[in-house]
Amino acid sequence: MNVPVIGFSKLSKTEKVNWLVTAYFNGDTTASDIITRYWNDDKKLQELHDGFSENTITNYYFPFGLAPNFLIDDKLVTIPMAIEESSVVAAASKAAKFWLERGGFKTQIKSTIKSGQVHLMYHGLNSEMEAFYAFAKADLLQSIQSINASMKKRGGGLQSLELVNKTENLDGYYQLHATFETKDAMGANFINTTLEQLATTFREKATEFKGFSSDAPEVIMSILSNYVPQCVVNVSVSCKIDEIGTINGVSGADFARKFTRAVDIATVEPYRAVTHNKGIMNGIDAVVIATGNDFRAVEAGVHAYASRDGQYRSLTRARVENDTFTFEADFPLALGTVGGLTSLHPLSKLAMRILGNPSAEDLMKVTAVCGLAQNFAALHSLVTTGIQAGHMKMHIVNMLEQIGANDAEKAQLKQAFQDKTPSFSALRETLDGMRKK
Ligand code: HMG
Repeated sequence: MNVPVIGFSKLSKTEKVNWLVTAYFNGDTTASDIITRYWNDDKKLQELHDGFSENTITNYYFPFGLAPNFLIDDKLVTIPMAIEESSVVAAASKAAKFWLERGGFKTQIKSTIKSGQVHLMYHGLNSEMEAFYAFAKADLLQSIQSINASMKKRGGGLQSLELVNKTENLDGYYQLHATFETKDAMGANFINTTLEQLATTFREKATEFKGFSSDAPEVIMSILSNYVPQCVVNVSVSCKIDEIGTINGVSGADFARKFTRAVDIATVEPYRAVTHNKGIMNGIDAVVIATGNDFRAVEAGVHAYASRDGQYRSLTRARVENDTFTFEADFPLALGTVGGLTSLHPLSKLAMRILGNPSAEDLMKVTAVCGLAQNFAALHSLVTTGIQAGHMKMHIVNMLEQIGANDAEKAQLKQAFQDKTPSFSALRETLDGMRKK
């Protein structure tokens, strides 16, 4: 039975690996062989990667791919994508190619405001809390001036601060709700530092205020919000129905009608909406990861946005009006192009260069385009051939690896399954047949 390990964080990397091999693999060094095979020969690069996280023992690769031919606001863009799932990059590329000949993608930033809160508890009268806020507000704002200074120089900084009474949601609950413009930074550190200073000043001013009839308000915590419904980019594609052409044997008009229905279904049916939006996130996450942004923050914010009216719904919308097919979405995306991993990870830096060193707004646009493209490609397959044909055409590479086919057998099997959807049993059976010959 394993026993707890004390001081694990203080062990060297090799000692951590040795501990793992002893505690979990009975001394079998196959585990450490796998681990060390993924170490980078470049010591400095390896140290950089080790420093990204804690207790690191090795690297975990994700494929880094390119989806070319995206026409975005009349500019041709190649999108870098880091993703482990087959057919995603192919799907994005296919959608890019489709829209390249039909006017491309159009984008528009709606707003880039982010927010954060100092969460408070006060069980006295609301009027006392309001009087205290009026008493403290100038000092609260004064206290963050130096933190705010460089962000302000870049045209950002704190935009607003208000006291919000949330006692109807939770007894005694108030917040200082702050909004921020963080320009090219994702802004998490700036926002959190500002909020923590506001909390400190709030506590200090509370000791000076004489108007509380009960215990002074208590600061529970201060933290940015990853819900960013005011940091939104709109992305759309549009073309005449007769420009769609025939798709997998389906006429342009039928394709547009079925496609629009498929989006309508995801708008009203949460079971479908979750899968529909997962397909969108295939594209969004891949760009977010490739550019060194925080995909968990983006995921959380996007899904909250998808349920903003109380029901989880499709993030995309489609319509046919006056013989024109339009497909669009608003995505809440708080992304940065400076700071954090974006300027540390060599591949993120490379991704930024591929994208022409974009501003945060430009990166929001590209990421949104990739999300819409992904959803277009998935629905394109779903309402015509079904998803499996295309997806499995790509996934067959992994299946052949899993059944242990050699290079010559892989080539033969790929050929044999060119027009069929492969399954493990069918592949194994064909491989067995080939080997018996
Ligand atoms: P196809 O029509 O067989 O492709 O589509 P093609 O061989 O005719 O090639 C057309 C273009 O597609 C190529 O142009 C490429 O742009 C791209 P070219 O480069 O030749 O000028 N393409 C590729 N790019 C890179 N590598 C490849 C490759 N193959 C084609 N190997 C395809 C095949 C898979 C693209 C298509 O069937 C497709 O888009 N399927 C959808 C796949 C998908 O959505 N995958 C995501 C995983 S499934 C999922 O997680 C989400 C889902 O559940 C969401 C939902 O339910 O809404 C589906």
